[in-house]
Amino acid sequence: MALITWTADQYGTGVGFADSEHQTLFGLLNKLYDEATGGAARATIGASLDALIAYVVDHFAHEEREMLAKGFGGYDRHKAEHEAMVGICADLQKKFHAGQAEVTEEVGQLVKGWLDSHIPTFDMSYSDTLK
Ligand SMILES: [Fe+2]
Ligand SMILES: [Fe+2]
Repeated sequence: MALITWTADQYGTGVGFADSEHQTLFGLLNKLYDEATGGAARATIGASLDALIAYVVDHFAHEEREMLAKGFGGYDRHKAEHEAMVGICADLQKKFHAGQAEVTEEVGQLVKGWLDSHIPTFDMSYSDTLK
């Protein structure tokens, strides 16, 4: 079962690129979660983990470019939130590929929890400026 389902009610920012990228991101997260909790080969899980993290980094950079371009006042706080998440991802990625960590149910729930908090509070706050 999907870990996270995009709905406009819960996650819509009204900013086209962001809503579309969030849906792609959710799809990559669900794929990783299904593989990790469904006993897929470790190499498959690793490839999906890398793909998700690369997409997250690109998505954050895209939001940051747009916020800067429009002079959005919440840029610094928003970027700091992104950087904290990239740090968590990079740490997990490094440990996974060193055989020191696995992608678990808890990892999936942690990322979902972060998105459940970040999108409604931080991403929705740029809605009026970036629309
Ligand atoms: Fe976002
Ligand atoms: Fe964001």
